[in-house]
Amino acid sequence: VLYPLLAAVAAYLLGSLSFAVIVTRAMGLSDPRTYGSKNPGATNVLRSGSRAAAIVTLLFDTVKGWLPVALVLWFGAPHGLHDGTVALVAIAAFLGHLWPVFFRFEGGKGVATALGVLLGINVWLGLASAATWIAIAVFFRYSSLASLVAAAFAPVYYLLVDGVVWQAQEPIAAAIGAMALLLAWRHAPNIRRMIEGRESRLGSRKPEPG
Ligand code: G3P
Repeated sequence: VLYPLLAAVAAYLLGSLSFAVIVTRAMGLSDPRTYGSKNPGATNVLRSGSRAAAIVTLLFDTVKGWLPVALVLWFGAPHGLHDGTVALVAIAAFLGHLWPVFFRFEGGKGVATALGVLLGINVWLGLASAATWIAIAVFFRYSSLASLVAAAFAPVYYLLVDGVVWQAQEPIAAAIGAMALLLAWRHAPNIRRMIEGRESRLGSRKPEPG
């Protein structure tokens, strides 16, 4: 019980590193929680005009989801850490991003971190989800819509990829489903803005109403 718990706490602390805030601060840019959607995430950092900052944010927020999952898969078994712990650290890192202990529990929407988790579980699962995101983003130019559609497909991809190639594991399937639901819930303001036709499109520099 001790090792899975320690792994989960470590994953949560890692997830709590809100890289949108850390990266913009390090680059001397303004805090993404003060403009655009006010969301500390790569999409909103892009609205600052710095593509570099957005890419670095995306990269680090993805790695912090990927790393704990990959570490448990690589080194966990001899310590008795199996699929239950994979699911646990996946959720813990994701929850850290949504409710970061270092940032007054005000975090992001979990898209990049979920992508990292999916890549860690199975690289094809991650790539299929990323490809879905890109297809929707290119076609509709809404980051939020792309995230919602990719999140809806991720559990399906998991069952297809891992179910057919290996054996899908219930705790991991449950973790992916839970992440998708939480991610969708965090996008409620985006959904409202899309319905009202007020959601800002990727590439548009028009400021977005909160
Ligand atoms: O990364 C979250 C994305 O799906 C939406 O971000 O800033 O448009 O609310 P944002």
